[in-house]
Amino acid sequence: MPRYVALIPAAGSGSRMLAELPKQYAPLAGRPLLQHAVSTLCAHPLISQVFVVLSPGDRHFGACDWSACGDKLLPLYCGGETRAASVFNGLLAANNAIDGPDWVLVHDAARPCLRAADIDRLIAAVGDGDSGGLLAVPVADTLKRANADGEVLQTAPREHLWRAQTPQMFRYRVLIEALRRADIAAVTDESSAVEQTGARPLLVAGSGANLKVTYPEDLALAELILAQRECR
Ligand code: C5P
Repeated sequence: MPRYVALIPAAGSGSRMLAELPKQYAPLAGRPLLQHAVSTLCAHPLISQVFVVLSPGDRHFGACDWSACGDKLLPLYCGGETRAASVFNGLLAANNAIDGPDWVLVHDAARPCLRAADIDRLIAAVGDGDSGGLLAVPVADTLKRANADGEVLQTAPREHLWRAQTPQMFRYRVLIEALRRADIAAVTDESSAVEQTGARPLLVAGSGANLKVTYPEDLALAELILAQRECR
C-alpha cells in the first residue's frame, strides 16, 4: 500500500513580516508558527513521516521542543533559493525514505490553522488515481483587472476561479518528475508543475481558516482562529 508522508518547506526568510525572526519561528499562540502545522501533520494517523525542509544555516529549529512529534519528524537542512527549490531539494534528500507511488502532502509552514479534518477530506477526495489534488477555496470577491496606475480596466469573471492552498498532494514519482522538468524559478506551487505535465489535479474545497501568514496582521487573525477552536 502506498504511504502518506508530509513535506513542509520552511526555509524562507519571511521578509514581508518585517521581523527579525524568520516567519516560520514567529510566536503564535505560545509556540513557533512552524510548530502548529508540524504538530497537526505528525498527529495524523495516516501520515507516517513528516519532513521539514530548513535553510542550511537554520539555528532555530534545534532550539524548539519537538518531543511530542516522536520519530515521525525529520528535519532536512537543504532549503533552496525559492519555495519550489526547497521542495525539490527536500524530495531529493528524502529519496531513500519514500517510494515512487507514495503520496507526498506538501504543506506551507506558514499555514498554521490546518485541521486534521482538512487532511482527511483531501486524502479521501484524491483517492488512488495519479493526478493528485490540493485544498483550495472558490474566489468569493469580485475581481478587477487594473493598469499600472491602479485604475480599473475590467471586471474579470470569477466563475471557476479558486485560490490554491496547501496541502497539495501528489505521488512522489509524479511530483519529482514534474519539478525536474519545470522551470523551477517560475513554479509557485506543486500543482502548477504537475499541471504542465498534462495532469489535472483535483481542487478539493478547503476552509478560508487555513490562511497563509504573510503579513504581520495575519498572525493576529491566525491567533483568533486557534483561540476559537480551543474554546470549543
Ligand atoms: O514566502 P512564502 O509565504 O510564499 O513561503 C511559503 C512557504 O515556503 C513558507 O513555509 C516558507 O518558509 C517556504 N519557503 C522555503 N524556501 C524558500 C522560500 C520559502 O521553504 N526559499
